[in-house]
Amino acid sequence: MAIESFDIKDRSLAGAGALRVEWAAREMPVLKLIRKRFAEDKPLAGVSLGACLHVTTETANLVTTLVAGGAEVVLCASNPLSTQDDVAAALVAEGIPVFAIKGEDNKTYYRHIMSVLATGPQYTMDDGADLVSTLHTKKRQLLKGVRGGTEETTTGVIRLRNMARDRALAYPIIAVNDAQTKHFFDNRYGTGQSTIDGITRATNILWAGKRVVVCGYGWCGRGIARRAQGFGAHVIVTEVNPIAALEAVMDGYEVMPLLEAAKVGDVFITVTGDISVLNTPHFKLMKDGAILANTGHFNVEINITALEKLAKSKRRIRPFVEEYLFRDGRCLYLLGEGRLINLAAAEGHPASVMDMSFANQALCLEYLVKAGRKLKPDVYPVPEHIDREIGRLKLQSMGVVIDSLTPEQEKYLRGWVEGT
Ligand SMILES: NC(=O)c1ccc[n+]([C@@H]2O[C@H](COP(=O)([O-])OP(=O)(O)OC[C@H]3O[C@@H](n4cnc5c(N)ncnc54)[C@H](O)[C@@H]3O)[C@@H](O)[C@H]2O)c1
Repeated sequence: MAIESFDIKDRSLAGAGALRVEWAAREMPVLKLIRKRFAEDKPLAGVSLGACLHVTTETANLVTTLVAGGAEVVLCASNPLSTQDDVAAALVAEGIPVFAIKGEDNKTYYRHIMSVLATGPQYTMDDGADLVSTLHTKKRQLLKGVRGGTEETTTGVIRLRNMARDRALAYPIIAVNDAQTKHFFDNRYGTGQSTIDGITRATNILWAGKRVVVCGYGWCGRGIARRAQGFGAHVIVTEVNPIAALEAVMDGYEVMPLLEAAKVGDVFITVTGDISVLNTPHFKLMKDGAILANTGHFNVEINITALEKLAKSKRRIRPFVEEYLFRDGRCLYLLGEGRLINLAAAEGHPASVMDMSFANQALCLEYLVKAGRKLKPDVYPVPEHIDREIGRLKLQSMGVVIDSLTPEQEKYLRGWVEGT
């Protein structure tokens, strides 16, 4: 793989980016341990990797870990608005080809994906499955050289499972999102905190006393609802899954149809992985001044085309805040062009939680390389021993000690004869 080119906003931002990457590294002790071992053992020697991830300080730490292990990595953004331009510059200064510019249009976004694919990677590391889907639709001739991949997020895993069901997936991919040390923590605590952070930075609203409507009570929705409540908001949850809705009720939130919530909400946050969750009928009912934000993977959860059609005019009133003025005099405020607000208007998840997500990525790539061509094309779970080891190391890094089973307890838990 001979890569010399890159496409980033400004190389002179490298110094500032490097400092922020160093700061994030302080909160990533598990990845640091992996990097140390990788640097000694070089388990990724000769491996070429095409990565499509949010270009953040945490991702930079992942990429340098993989490079320490011997991999050649080429990186593009997994969202047009999530790139941190200083981090992209810092990586380029380290000799890593990066194709990512914050605010790039859709055409550039896909051109950057194509630039990564043009290097003919043996492995893919994706967040949302745009790299994998482009590879399978527009660059099929490269598939024979690809040995495996990993996927970071819920939406990507859903797309990959759909590909596997349709027998369209050409190589094995590990669903990193489904590791317990990933979605229990990253989706819940990471998205919970950083979504509130993104909306706060974009608007500077006071959360206390606001009616916050969380659409989708999955792993991310649970975290957002809890954090909004912690700030003093009155949280309303909307769902389509009866069990998730029941959990929200028993967690103490109001649950109602979105058409009802639309009339009372001050802030709406979509996090479903679904399409057109907020749509024309809801926009028509919303109060003047309602704020609309999405933190699900794609910018399809809020029907922006419908919003544009309804509005008489629009203007940018603050960075990341678009004001839509309706004929009846109401205004609705769309944040971050409907793209995941925690990465568009803030810095994404804190490093401490990405430590576990990216430890999974690094160890799963190593696992795939070791497995060679043994795995058939399909979507695979993260091996349990990797998941548990990451949990153990994270606890250790936090100075938390737990108990272990006594021989008597181990025997009892394996048996079935002993009762009352
Ligand atoms: N912003 C981020 O940094 C970030 C981080 C992790 C995941 N994500 C993305 O967030 C989204 C949600 O992820 P998750 O892990 O919480 O998924 P999940 O599957 O755990 O939860 C999604 C929930 O949304 C509900 N839902 C689906 N359609 C709905 C509708 N029309 N109305 C109301 N509820 C609906 C589902 O029933 C489910 O309970 C995905 O797109 C994922 O990729 C974003």
